[in-house]
Amino acid sequence: MATVTFDKATRIYPGSTKPAVDALEIDVEDGEFLVLVGPSGCGKSTSLRMLAGLEDVNGGAIRIGERDVTHLPPKDRDIAMVFQNYALYPHMTVADNMGFALKIAGINKTEIRAKVEEAAKILDLTDYLDRKPKALSGGQRQRVAMGRAIVREPQVFLMDEPLSNLDAKLRVSTRTQIASLQRRLGITTVYVTHDQVEAMTMGDRVVVLKDGLLQQIDSPRNMYDRPSNLFVAGFIGSPAMNLVEVPITDGGVKFGNSVVPVSREALAAASEKGDTTVTVGVRPEHFEVVEHDEVPKSLAKESAEAPAGLAVAVNVVEELGADGYVYGSAEVNGVDKELVVRVNGRKVPDKGTKLHVVPRTGEIHVFSTSTGERLSD
Ligand SMILES: Nc1ncnc2c1ncn2[C@@H]1O[C@H](COP(=O)(O)OP(=O)(O)OP(=O)(O)O)[C@@H](O)[C@H]1O
Ligand SMILES: [Mg+2]
Repeated sequence: MATVTFDKATRIYPGSTKPAVDALEIDVEDGEFLVLVGPSGCGKSTSLRMLAGLEDVNGGAIRIGERDVTHLPPKDRDIAMVFQNYALYPHMTVADNMGFALKIAGINKTEIRAKVEEAAKILDLTDYLDRKPKALSGGQRQRVAMGRAIVREPQVFLMDEPLSNLDAKLRVSTRTQIASLQRRLGITTVYVTHDQVEAMTMGDRVVVLKDGLLQQIDSPRNMYDRPSNLFVAGFIGSPAMNLVEVPITDGGVKFGNSVVPVSREALAAASEKGDTTVTVGVRPEHFEVVEHDEVPKSLAKESAEAPAGLAVAVNVVEELGADGYVYGSAEVNGVDKELVVRVNGRKVPDKGTKLHVVPRTGEIHVFSTSTGERLSD
């Protein structure tokens, strides 16, 4: 077991001027399951490959435990990697596939067999050891690839989208298996995925990358509750957080017909930048429905007072059983804005009606419109 340190590690590919990974700083704890997540091309695989020794490091350093491995070849790093295309040898049995690296390392047959059997037991592959890969399901093959890594008893596991070849259902069950296996073995693991749900469910901590730059490193809970900028706010969570640009008013922000209180510090920080608006983030589950017009406003009799909050025209309703999601549009400061509101799955509104929503107190996120950084606590 070991810690892993990215110490301002930078990779600039030949012929490029912009780093693919830019001064990455991460301290992975001993035994931790750390997930790198971000959109395509953000530098996840490059980061992992630098740690594996498959990619040159052009600046900074990488350490495994106390050892500086920045310029060590992959074989001297004591790591094992599981890729998306785990490419098992088709002509070899499961047992031979799993033991292959040990055989190359010159370990004797009895010892290899013992290690393979132990790994097979952990992975529930004991009955398949004599089969060829083509006689296995996708999930079983994936477990053989894991087995190949486990038998080597490395200090660090590296995994690059190991589940992306599996169908949706198998991916969900296998991700639970990998996460619990990692916890049992306690081997420090760096795991790459572009799927934020996978990241949030598997990681002890999650790193969000964008354009080669670290955006936030945090526990899944903190990442969800306190995204540090607009990018993370929009990337983590499904359906995504609603982000609405709203004018600053006295003591808060104008949200449709209501003023939502915002801390003085946050508003002061925005004014300091010369901004007259802030961008408010509200998760779909943090809207309160204050009123529901069953009939279109044009047909209803005039009410004396406009209802509170923002009027959301219901365009699409997604019923998921326990929950329902309303996809609607609202006019915010003269601009049409798409919004998602979670509602009770047993009481979903009809298409074409109108919801009036306000964010729950204390459940809003405030970001600088100009820089995107988080302003609220
Ligand atoms: N061998 C290479 N030569 C030049 N540029 C490269 C090379 N490999 C990757 N890149 C570039 O570096 C950036 C980061 O690529 P990387 O493969 O790390 O992204 P990623 O986050 O793993 O994306 P994905 O989710 O699509 O796998 C991209 O802009 C990519 O085009
Ligand atoms: Mg990749």
